[in-house]
Amino acid sequence: MKKVLEIGGVPVTRLAQKYGTPLYIYDENQLRNQCQKYKQNFLDDVFSTEVLYASKAFSCIGMLKLIKEEGLSVDVVSLGELATAIQAGVSCSHIYFHGNNKTPEEIQYALDHDVCHFFVDNQQEAMLLKTMAKNSKKTLYVMLRINPCIEAHTHEYIQTANIDSKFGISLYLEEEIVRLIKEIQSSPFMIFEGFHSHIGSQIFEKEAFEKEIETMFSFIARMEERGISCSKLDLGGGFAIHYTDHDQPIPVEQICKVILSACRHQQILHKTHVDTILIEPGRSIAGEAGSTLYTIGFSKTTPHKRYLFVDGGMSDNIRPCLYQAQYDADVATNMEAVKDQEVCVAGKCCESGDILIPNIKLQAFDSNDLLIVYSTGAYGFSMFNNYNRNLRPAVVFVKDGKSSLVVKRETIEDLLKGDVR
Ligand code: LLP
Repeated sequence: MKKVLEIGGVPVTRLAQKYGTPLYIYDENQLRNQCQKYKQNFLDDVFSTEVLYASKAFSCIGMLKLIKEEGLSVDVVSLGELATAIQAGVSCSHIYFHGNNKTPEEIQYALDHDVCHFFVDNQQEAMLLKTMAKNSKKTLYVMLRINPCIEAHTHEYIQTANIDSKFGISLYLEEEIVRLIKEIQSSPFMIFEGFHSHIGSQIFEKEAFEKEIETMFSFIARMEERGISCSKLDLGGGFAIHYTDHDQPIPVEQICKVILSACRHQQILHKTHVDTILIEPGRSIAGEAGSTLYTIGFSKTTPHKRYLFVDGGMSDNIRPCLYQAQYDADVATNMEAVKDQEVCVAGKCCESGDILIPNIKLQAFDSNDLLIVYSTGAYGFSMFNNYNRNLRPAVVFVKDGKSSLVVKRETIEDLLKGDVR
């Protein structure tokens, strides 16, 4: 008998039979544990704290219900993410609205649903918010996104704080920042609360976060000298996770300690009015709890390679193509065999670059065996695309030997329903 992988106490063969493949599978206990780790470790004697789940990592109603149950707040960046959070029942006072180019439609939707926390990204947005808040007679709590101009060692496309970043206002533009805050403070409908920064994603070095904290506190001290008082500091997300054995992420418990102790240290140095620290983990909550299950189709050998083809690919996981992201995998229906088959795992899309794992040693396999790719829980489902008109896989949560459907597999009818002529 070949050994079959179980996730959350459920054999993956049963999941494949019941829901089909490709399939996004989340271990629900693992998701909840990650939330609790953040809740319990991001607590401090000096500062109030708040953990916002960055829902871009993985957003659907089922996930946001779970986030709500675990007591985290939510950060959203679009109408879709906003509507998902609202539909999941996340309280409007726990929703924070991000984005460098929020549209009037998105802002109005937020105001209509009493969402009151906004991160302002630029001058024009501040003016628009001011007008819209006044017209709706809603009070908004505003934080300003600052680009701290720190280059984290991560892929160029997921760096967000280099000097020419499209996000936030460079901390060197102090005059402009003071003017913008005065503009916000002149509105009876806007309350300026503080600053936000985010230095990138999949960051392994604690020094990068310490540098961010040092930079932000000395910036806040300079702002306070100019009469701008700041009570909240949001340090963004970006905490790395384990994809392959090359990755050694800082455990959640430790990263929380690093952040809070750096904040305390900086507070002693600068004596600012900051009393609340926020963070926004996305990947580190959803990433490792999710895997993608595929059915192995054909395989073929070329002069230099042996290909293993799966029934998904760059449509359900664009990350290898976009960022050369690396993943680990197993033949989920032959877990105990030695990993002596050197293959390139490729998808079914019409694109030479549709390679999920360029080179990996796997257990022996046949067509119709199942392949599991680990740590796809963040930015897999959320970056799904319909290239080649592939259908979006289903999402299931598994827990204590039971599975439950969270998002239905897309059907051909779903795919074609918007095509009106
Ligand atoms: N807060 C802000 C303002 C962000 O821009 C992001 C991510 C996060 C929080 C959450 O970062 P996390 O903890 O998930 O690293 N698609 C890319 C990642 C893009 C991240 C964009 N911003 C990927 O698949 O690696």
